[in-house]
Amino acid sequence: KSFLQKLWKGNVSSKMLTPRLQKARREYLRANKLGVSFSGKQNSRKLSAQELLCILKKRAHVRTLDGKEAPFSNLGWEKYFPKMPLNKLYPRVFSTCAVVSSAGAILNSSLGAEIDAHDAVLRFNSAPTRNYEKDVGNKTTLRIINSQILTNPSHHFADSSLYRDVTLVAWDPSPYYADLHMWYHKPDYNLFPPYEQHRKKNPNQPFYILHPKFTWELWKIIQENSNEKIQPNPPSSGFIGILIMMSLCGKVHVYEYIPSYRQTDLCHYHEQYYDAACTLGAYHPLLYEKMLIQRMNQGTEDNLLRKGKVTLPGFSTLHC
Ligand code: C5P
Repeated sequence: KSFLQKLWKGNVSSKMLTPRLQKARREYLRANKLGVSFSGKQNSRKLSAQELLCILKKRAHVRTLDGKEAPFSNLGWEKYFPKMPLNKLYPRVFSTCAVVSSAGAILNSSLGAEIDAHDAVLRFNSAPTRNYEKDVGNKTTLRIINSQILTNPSHHFADSSLYRDVTLVAWDPSPYYADLHMWYHKPDYNLFPPYEQHRKKNPNQPFYILHPKFTWELWKIIQENSNEKIQPNPPSSGFIGILIMMSLCGKVHVYEYIPSYRQTDLCHYHEQYYDAACTLGAYHPLLYEKMLIQRMNQGTEDNLLRKGKVTLPGFSTLHC
């Protein structure tokens, strides 16, 4: 069986990766730059889809900065964070949502119309829709952005239309023992000044910063349910986004996160850059995130193979 067929069944391990990606994982494990120490235990038994979903529902509560905790409270930042928490922003649960990964495999998929038919669409970082409508659609409701988008001038965060008229959710890797003071003074990329500026200029645009506790809670759940040591770095924007949508939507349809038969080393559909790490992980524990998502898939195998589509129930529809 090919690697891809094994991934579709949720049966892969790091040993099936290329030597280069195996080495990258080992080096991140050794460096452990964010000081992760996992004290939980790995589940000895492979949990069922329903058990995994209920664990996520119980523990993966989206949390964003609200300015009430130091150092933000002392800095007078309460006024910058949106008054309305993200889970109350929309008056009701979206009935159906799309999460669109940025993978090159979505090229030539003709999934655009299907994606746009959802009530809400989540995209990532600088992924465009213009000129790619046929494959990725053109509706964007939310966009998850990492701190590099706010700080790297090449993204023109303040001016680009990509970041206008949508709900923004930004995040930045913090040390595992998430002390907000430490993180504020030493973020991976300093997203705080551009965030403050953007909020002053666009006070009506919903724009959140994720609380590092939320991303690390997701990391723990992935580690507890993997049978290897996963990279000691936060999950990818893709995994974070799927979990956010599970709390906002009745059903979540994820496109080309688990690759379809179109799988390619093309990193992003909008860039001529080839690297298998984008799909299988180097920094992020992507392989393990994807296996976890695959195990909860409620869609058909045909949809997975042809569309790279996984269907997950929203938390509000789960009876745990
Ligand atoms: O690279 P970037 O983080 O902007 O891509 C958005 C998300 O799409 C990633 O966090 C990852 O979850 C997913 N992705 C993927 N395979 C790729 C590229 C992106 O699964 N080749």
